[in-house]
Amino acid sequence: MTIAVRSLTVSDFDALKNVADGVFDDPLVPSSAKSFLKNQDNYLVVAVDEDNADRVVGFASAVKYLHPDKEKPEMVVLEIGVAPPYRQQGAGKKIMNAMLAEAKKSGCRVAWLATEPDNVAALALYKAAGGKPPETCIHIDFDLD
Ligand SMILES: CC(C)(COP(=O)(O)OP(=O)(O)OC[C@H]1O[C@@H](n2cnc3c(N)ncnc32)[C@H](O)[C@@H]1OP(=O)(O)O)[C@@H](O)C(=O)NCCC(=O)NCCS
Repeated sequence: MTIAVRSLTVSDFDALKNVADGVFDDPLVPSSAKSFLKNQDNYLVVAVDEDNADRVVGFASAVKYLHPDKEKPEMVVLEIGVAPPYRQQGAGKKIMNAMLAEAKKSGCRVAWLATEPDNVAALALYKAAGGKPPETCIHIDFDLD
């Protein structure tokens, strides 16, 4: 199995037509995926299986933003996922490294993300990718429906 990692732009939209089960939480919404890729502050890094018709077997999504009181932008990594049959073979780390490289290339001074304290796999991945020890934080949703 040969796993390659690519950072997609809107011209790569067709790459998202062949996605393995269990990569994203929900089926892709093509119009949303296209809108996401059109925004140059959005990042979508995918891992593809080159021995299986470039099927997308993992991804990370992120947003770059410039806060009013900062001189340099920051990146928040929104989600990362690898299809179950491809886990624990280095794909997640390749994806994270590629996303962090995108952050650096675009001038970000920091990248950050959140995960659940009991997500053993995610915590191991972020540590392996060079993340600092986790800080405690609580998550609050506002239901706006
Ligand atoms: C988290 C996730 C993306 C990791 O992807 P992956 O391709 O399995 O990760 P890798 O194979 O690159 O492993 C990276 C490191 O984490 C470790 N690791 C991965 N899964 C692990 C597990 N279940 N238990 C312990 N360590 C684990 C690996 O050993 C490796 O460490 P090393 O580099 O020191 O050897 C994957 O488990 C996943 O998709 N989980 C479901 C979605 C999810 O929870 N996403 C995170 C939400 S914030």
